[in-house]
Amino acid sequence: MATAAEQQTQLVETSKRLAAFQAVKDYLKPEYTRIGIGSGSTVVYVVEAIAALGPAVTSTMTFYPTGAQSEELIEAAGLRLQYISKLPADQQLDVAFDGADEVDDDLNLIKGGGACLWQEKIVAASARQFVCVADFRKLSSRLGTAWKKGIPIEVLPMAAPRVLGELRRLGSLDPRVRPGLPGKAGACVTDNGLWIVDAPFPPLLLPGDAEAAAAPDSRPAGTWTVDELADRLIKIPGVAEIGLFYGKNGLQVASGAQKPVAAYF
Ligand code: 5RP
Repeated sequence: MATAAEQQTQLVETSKRLAAFQAVKDYLKPEYTRIGIGSGSTVVYVVEAIAALGPAVTSTMTFYPTGAQSEELIEAAGLRLQYISKLPADQQLDVAFDGADEVDDDLNLIKGGGACLWQEKIVAASARQFVCVADFRKLSSRLGTAWKKGIPIEVLPMAAPRVLGELRRLGSLDPRVRPGLPGKAGACVTDNGLWIVDAPFPPLLLPGDAEAAAAPDSRPAGTWTVDELADRLIKIPGVAEIGLFYGKNGLQVASGAQKPVAAYF
């Protein structure tokens, strides 16, 4: 008899797999040739779903990873790998699939739980369509409600103390440098040789919220809309990229893509 914890794990894994297969069915068209593949445990199911289509569909497709993990997944599934650095400036990916740590009512995302947020944003911004595959645990009305570890921020190690100070000034509740994997001393080092700072904030407002009508400095400390906070975080010297994926970020500006498309279970 499975314990309650085992049953919950099974439910989550089933949900991730169903969401991934549904997303691939709905958003991967046979005529597509360039596909972005994100990072995390949900994306494992995305690659499984793509591989299950067989070479008749996938042999004309090339897959662009967001890091070492997705590179390995693509190769292990026998799919053609290419790096985003090889994508000509005048071309786009047809679609990019990725997971998320949290998704709000406006489809803004927190990403970076797996420390790949910088490459993930570049791949997402290179795609005409961004499909976020998220299970039921990730959905919340306001970012910061379900994912309580904070907004992942990729920083230059020498700037980390100063960045932490700036985050506290912006009202972050106990921002911290993310430690390395269990058993590994020191900080978590990204594929880019940088560190991750996790910065918790009170739940982020959406433009239609009553509190958002007040000027930021007249609200309780640390109370920001997604756009306001993103604008401030990205401007801190030493910050390379932030794990907020939101409506008017690189997804739209760089690629003309619309807001993230989400596939949920
Ligand atoms: C990695 C990410 C992942 O997409 C996010 O952490 C979700 O991971 P999982 O599918 O394992 O829950 O942003 O940087």
